[in-house]
Amino acid sequence: MLGARAQGGWRALRRCSSLPRAVRLRVREALGTREAVDAVRVQGWVRSVRSQKEVLFLHINDGSSLEHLQVVANPNLENRDLTFGSAVEVQGKLVKSPHRKQNMELQAETIRVVGPCDIWSFPLKMKERHPLEYVRQFPHLRCRNNTLGSLLRIRSEATAAIHSFFQDNGYVHIHTPIITSNDCEGAGELFQIEASSEVRESAEKTHFFNVPAFLTVSGQLHLEVMAGAFTHVFTFGPTFRAENSQSRRHLAEFYMVEAELSFTESLQDIMQVMEDLFKTVTSTVLSKCPHDVELFHKYVAPAQKTKDRLEQILKNKFVTISYSEAVEILKQASQTFTFKPEWGRDLQTEHEKYLVKHCGEVPVFVINYPYDLKPFYMRDNEDGPQHTVAAVDLLVPGIGELCGGSLREERLPFLESRLQRLGLTDTYQWYLDLRKFGSVPHGGFGMGFERYLQYILGVDNIKDVIPFPRFSHSCLL
Ligand code: 4AD
Ligand code: MG
Repeated sequence: MLGARAQGGWRALRRCSSLPRAVRLRVREALGTREAVDAVRVQGWVRSVRSQKEVLFLHINDGSSLEHLQVVANPNLENRDLTFGSAVEVQGKLVKSPHRKQNMELQAETIRVVGPCDIWSFPLKMKERHPLEYVRQFPHLRCRNNTLGSLLRIRSEATAAIHSFFQDNGYVHIHTPIITSNDCEGAGELFQIEASSEVRESAEKTHFFNVPAFLTVSGQLHLEVMAGAFTHVFTFGPTFRAENSQSRRHLAEFYMVEAELSFTESLQDIMQVMEDLFKTVTSTVLSKCPHDVELFHKYVAPAQKTKDRLEQILKNKFVTISYSEAVEILKQASQTFTFKPEWGRDLQTEHEKYLVKHCGEVPVFVINYPYDLKPFYMRDNEDGPQHTVAAVDLLVPGIGELCGGSLREERLPFLESRLQRLGLTDTYQWYLDLRKFGSVPHGGFGMGFERYLQYILGVDNIKDVIPFPRFSHSCLL
């Protein structure tokens, strides 16, 4: 067969630059083409080189798909710089491939090495399945690895699916500020920002904005402002928490999707959007990136049976329990916890894991948390003696909390007295205004995007679902 190929005209092929300008195709487009195309040009990076007596095989990838494009060439096109990792431009004929595994292949007429790659010092090696921990050491190079390539395509598709979900349901997208003076969650996990010392010295100011400024921990309060004019709003942007970023589910910088809905009737309105968002985005990702997702389910986390679990989850309604029920379940557990479950105390990761397992390893909404545990903005349920607020957390297997949300306190007197007790009345005058001018029952939630990706792909460490791992504080790329 190879002999036939060689006879098929390679001897006649020219190794010259005067060929007509060929149509430029991405690898994905080339692979999806049904008919032969005479003159095409493909650019990308070499993923494998195999030189035989009569034929030279290359695999080219340009990030457009997990699958590489096979290039077949006359061995006389080989040169010293044509190695694994080098950047190339190949021009030739796109033809049906005789191999079962691929649809099309490129018969090269010219191969130009655009950027050589020193394979000895390049940390990635040909045909090696590098573990995620290994490639994490090379934040500037790991996107050239298959797993990270798939992750980044999935991340991009999931981002688009999130935007489509909200746009299709009539939400207005709001760019909420990244620099703000409010601490929405009140948990004190803030990064404070200041101008550099040179600017400070020349301006003779204590603070650049005259008040302390922080990187946002949530866009919620800004969305609440907008929910006074638009009934449905969302934001999807970077969020910052000065938390221990060494944990496998916490980042100092992460992306949060947040939605705010006006004229809500109950917490169920919010939970329905959370569930619909999760199911719609997940179905879209599964159908748009089947091979990329398969790589994770089959090779990165095969033991977790994520694929089967997801299929079940997409078909069934999420489970709902109250915080009080959750505490009872935990108290009756045969397992001993490091943190003893007690009404009024926060649920710890070990508790969240147990609850999810108890409910059959499915997503679980936990609703109505103790009033004293939650931030000032959550709506008072006016119950007792165990006083709660209309809060909801969505817990998922292997991760714990994926989403957090609540109804907001829309009643001026309730909010005023709570802020007064916390000594925050002056700070939140503007927030109180929202309750004076056309206040409506409203609520919303936030979903951690990286935790979402971790969950649907079965990835253990959150650092493996971000484009640039910040594996140590001393290496900021
Ligand atoms: O539960 P959180 O703190 O909720 C809020 O910030 C609300 N103001 C959102 C709202 O109602 N609009 O954060 C929401 C989600 C969490 O459930 C979690 O998935 C994710 O954000 N998250 C983190 N993800 C990665 N690293 C961290 N350090 C995270 N902190 C929170
Ligand atoms: Mg939370």
